[in-house]
Amino acid sequence: MLKTVVASRFAKPMGYGKTAPCLIGCEDADGKETELIVKFGAGCELKQRGLATEALVAMLGADLDLPVPEPFLVDVSAQFVATIPETDERHRRAKANARASLGLNFGSKKLPPGFSSHPKGKRLPGSLLPLAAEILAFDIFLANPDRVVANANFLIKGESVAIFDHELALFTEGIIGWVEPWKPGGIALLKNLPDGQRHVFLDDVRREPLDLSRLIGAFETISDVRLNDYRAAVPPVWIGDGKALDRMLDYLRGLRQNLDSAVKELRKALS
Ligand SMILES: Nc1ncnc2c1ncn2[C@@H]1O[C@H](COP(=O)(O)OP(=O)(O)OP(=O)(O)O)[C@@H](O)[C@H]1O
Ligand SMILES: [Mg+2]
Repeated sequence: MLKTVVASRFAKPMGYGKTAPCLIGCEDADGKETELIVKFGAGCELKQRGLATEALVAMLGADLDLPVPEPFLVDVSAQFVATIPETDERHRRAKANARASLGLNFGSKKLPPGFSSHPKGKRLPGSLLPLAAEILAFDIFLANPDRVVANANFLIKGESVAIFDHELALFTEGIIGWVEPWKPGGIALLKNLPDGQRHVFLDDVRREPLDLSRLIGAFETISDVRLNDYRAAVPPVWIGDGKALDRMLDYLRGLRQNLDSAVKELRKALS
């Protein structure tokens, strides 16, 4: 389910935070190059678990027909790391992360030219509102805290949107007061949330009646066999003792069984 490629041509750092993902030309077994945004395990807040989550959420998102760029496994060698220039602090951070992450890392296929960020506060085109509602539901149902006004993690080109950066999703252990979104009180979307907590599509989605029938129908077709396929696709070196990934997959099974209740809770929270 995830193609493996080899990092071969460093292009530039992408993010501005400590994750420091990079644009890298990567070669498949036939020597064909694809440009990917590569995240190194050592740069992720949750280390390899962050990579496992990125891959899991990207595979699920693709199955749900959500606009997630194609995910890849990217093999990073010491020889490749040696080619990263130490031009400035961002390059040095990327290089240190890459050096500490030899072996497999997560890559996301670079979007075609023309995708850019959406100005804060500007309404989405009306034609995108159904998709925006699905993305908001996806994020809330998967406990993804990282698509907010202050950190949008989506790009737009005309009437196309792409979503990325899912490393913090499905991380709920130890969060005091966390309740599954399908249980009463599991979803709170308070009015006037600050930019760091308000989902980037919340104001747009509130303008329209909510219709998640397509998304829910797609989610109901994600079988246990498919969930096992996701597990098998994640490299063992990212999984550790497997407990965290198994908890995430159990959670997805629970969500699938309780989608109607989750939609009801979301409807209540949006009203
Ligand atoms: N598939 C993609 N195609 C084009 N650009 C992308 C893609 N994925 C990510 N980007 C760009 O790279 C930036 C960083 O990626 P991402 O959001 O996944 O990492 P991050 O964890 O937020 O990194 P940092 O914390 O270092 O900012 C994004 O804000 C976006 O502009
Ligand atoms: Mg980001």
